[in-house]
Amino acid sequence: MKKLLLFSVLSSLIVFVSCTPKPKPEITEQQKSALRSDAKTFMESLKSVLIKEIQTHGIVSAVSVCSDTAQVLTNNYGISKGIYIKRVSFKNRNPMNVPDEFETKVLKMFEEMHSKNQIKPETEYVELIEEKGVSKVRFMKPIIVQPECLNCHGAEEQISSMVKEVINKIYPNDKAKGYQIGDLRGAVSIQKTL
Ligand code: HEC
Repeated sequence: MKKLLLFSVLSSLIVFVSCTPKPKPEITEQQKSALRSDAKTFMESLKSVLIKEIQTHGIVSAVSVCSDTAQVLTNNYGISKGIYIKRVSFKNRNPMNVPDEFETKVLKMFEEMHSKNQIKPETEYVELIEEKGVSKVRFMKPIIVQPECLNCHGAEEQISSMVKEVINKIYPNDKAKGYQIGDLRGAVSIQKTL
């Protein structure tokens, strides 16, 4: 009887200990600011490749360069930083840029904020998630349409017929036209394993 009691006390202790949640790791200010700067550098390098190509070879050539470079840069940048980084949008041009479940949730939130004029240059979203026992920090930042984007993402009449031709050829299912300055274009999305 004593043995049985001891056994049950011990086993409930084991259950108790193994059920106590592990303390959730917190995202430090330092980690946040590193992610912020990764997103910024990534967007700046994409933009500088784009602008350089437009200036040296023209807008038509920029489309094809951009379509390859964006994905290559996305991969290389992520690998060099040990992170996953990409751009996502509900109205995506590249099928690779469809948002996943988490990105969809955050993009919807950004859209809601955008409709209330609440998107600011410092707007961002950070969340710590557990995926298959791995802690990951996910970071997203809105991308807003600027004047120079309209050559390739604006209304039909703002995009030259040559540019349209190239876009339609590479992206037959392009949804990323018809934007105006100030529209929410999508978001930069970063995942980093802790
Ligand atoms: C020279 C044409 C061109 C210009 C100018 C341009 N883009 Fe794009 N954009 C593209 C192409 C091509 C893609 C598909 C690239 C890829 O494969 O990721 C793209 C993709 C994107 C994506 C990823 C989501 C998607 O639709 O696939 C975002 C976000 C984006 N552009 C935002 C912008 C913003 C913001 C600007 C202005 C600062 C801009 N673009 C200017 C051609 C252009």
